[in-house]
Amino acid sequence: MDGFNNRRDPVKIRSEQATICLPDAHATRSLGVQLGQVLPAYTVLLLQGDLGSGKTTFVQGLGEGLGIADPIDSPTFALINEYWNGRLPLYHFDLYRLSPSEAASLYPETYWEGDEKEPGIVAIEWAERLIYLPDAYLSLHFYYDYGSGRRVDWQTVGSLELAPLLVGLKLSTAQAPAE
Ligand SMILES: Nc1ncnc2c1ncn2[C@@H]1O[C@H](COP(=O)(O)OP(=O)(O)OP(=O)(O)O)[C@@H](O)[C@H]1O
Ligand SMILES: [Mg+2]
Repeated sequence: MDGFNNRRDPVKIRSEQATICLPDAHATRSLGVQLGQVLPAYTVLLLQGDLGSGKTTFVQGLGEGLGIADPIDSPTFALINEYWNGRLPLYHFDLYRLSPSEAASLYPETYWEGDEKEPGIVAIEWAERLIYLPDAYLSLHFYYDYGSGRRVDWQTVGSLELAPLLVGLKLSTAQAPAE
């Protein structure tokens, strides 16, 4: 992986990918727990995948990993739920019912720019509705796969590096990242 040692190219745009098998709902939640324990403030997670593919289950784990005691429900009607009693704020969006222009009217960028909102973790379900994307993010695309289970394709964009996120993940052998 290239570093940032080229002075004429101080911001390296990376695009890195991985796939993780999620054989059951516990695996989806566990992945969220582990990321919730380590992700730094300003991390934006763009979640995509068909209805019922596991996005909210993952965010429930994320909340647990952040130490949030409140139950995390799908914000389908609230659109944005904010949780404040973990190690970082969690901002959980669900854009399913919104058109792209309606999603833009929520000004989601205020949640990752850090000027108006306390820096935290931003998790956005149905992120394909976003018109404007952050400079750096982790895209997690959930798919039905492995019989009754799921898989999740990861992609980091911008300055967010994928490898440090994968190091130390505790996955069952059935969850090993694919080649
Ligand atoms: N890896 C998995 N294998 C099998 N079932 C799973 C897995 N992950 C989550 N589930 C189950 O799938 C169901 C739907 O999950 P969830 O609500 O998280 O999906 P979602 O993507 O948020 O759906 P929506 O698009 O409606 O918001 C839940 O019953 C959950 O327990
Ligand atoms: Mg959901």
